[in-house]
Amino acid sequence: MSTIERNFVLTFGQPPDIIAAAPGRVNLIGEHIDYSDGYVLPFAIADRTYCAIGKRSDRRVHIASAQRRNRVISIKLDDIKPSRAGKWERYVLGVIWSLGINQGLDIMIDGQVPLGAGLSSSAALECSVATALNDLFSLGIDLESLARLTQKAENDYVGVPCGIMDQSVSLMANRGSALLLDCRDLSSRNVSFDVAASGLELLIIDTQAHHSLTDGGYAQRRASCESVVAKLSIRSMRELTLEKLEASKDLISGIEFMRARHAVTEIRRVLDAVVALEKEDFVDLGRLLNASHASLRDDYDVSCPELNTAVAASISAGALGARMVGGGFGGSAIALIKASHTQETIKNIETQFRKNRFKAPRFFTSLPSQGAQIIQRG
Ligand code: GLA
Repeated sequence: MSTIERNFVLTFGQPPDIIAAAPGRVNLIGEHIDYSDGYVLPFAIADRTYCAIGKRSDRRVHIASAQRRNRVISIKLDDIKPSRAGKWERYVLGVIWSLGINQGLDIMIDGQVPLGAGLSSSAALECSVATALNDLFSLGIDLESLARLTQKAENDYVGVPCGIMDQSVSLMANRGSALLLDCRDLSSRNVSFDVAASGLELLIIDTQAHHSLTDGGYAQRRASCESVVAKLSIRSMRELTLEKLEASKDLISGIEFMRARHAVTEIRRVLDAVVALEKEDFVDLGRLLNASHASLRDDYDVSCPELNTAVAASISAGALGARMVGGGFGGSAIALIKASHTQETIKNIETQFRKNRFKAPRFFTSLPSQGAQIIQRG
């Protein structure tokens, strides 16, 4: 019996009807452009969140998590509507709400994606629940629609204005590949991402920094992009070119110009990164990662001292490229390094963090893994 099944039986007194799992993600490149109809190139990490569900005969939903000592949170089905009440369980309730489930449930969660590291533990949670419910109630929802429904749960129920990238990759990723996702229509293509065969490794550096700016800062960046789109009468940043942007400089503010320049150049870098990966040109990929970081730091202004230090220390230890990943203002950075240089790189980053009196960073690495899956039925 798996750990989550055992926890489910111990907590709810009977075996679950279904168990599903969904992974966290790292975005190789394409940051802060999912909400601008851009391209992104994330991959699923090996760490995943497990979710076991059983039907109840009454109209209550009981939710427990191994990370919260299996303490049961109980709510009436009819009370599941967007509100500020509740904590982490809102991610679960949001999915029940957005999928329109009308049945009492017992739900056990075992989240193994590191929390607060910018590795999308929230998308992993949402997608594990959505995958389990889709199968349990034979809803037949395709992955693109499931991505939109889990995003809706986070936007409208939890109240976080995230884009579509994290949920899409958690649901659609394939082992050994990064997912080239067109955020305009959610069409996607696997791009083989096998750094190990070239003696390389993608080091994930969790800076352990969480700046309070996060929520407001993300929404402000989105608002700037929307304002540019409105002022230039275009449908999205996708339609913009650098030439067009330069020519429209007088129509937008200086800040908006910088935000738009990031969006335009980052979309280009994603497509260039795909070409680099297909040619196995990791030097060029490294160059693009560095350029992405500089753009996020200088034009988009979503980096922070800890992320900049992690990136600079990786480069000075010989990394081919490095950049912050995710929403920014803290969280993780990635560095493309020679596998033989891992310890040296880690040491250099730790030394620089100590010098700057930052919290000690955590290090992970992961091969590109499979998206959400049903683990067990019945
Ligand atoms: C967060 C959001 C994503 C995306 C990234 C930045 O992870 O959830 O939708 O916008 O930030 O690329």
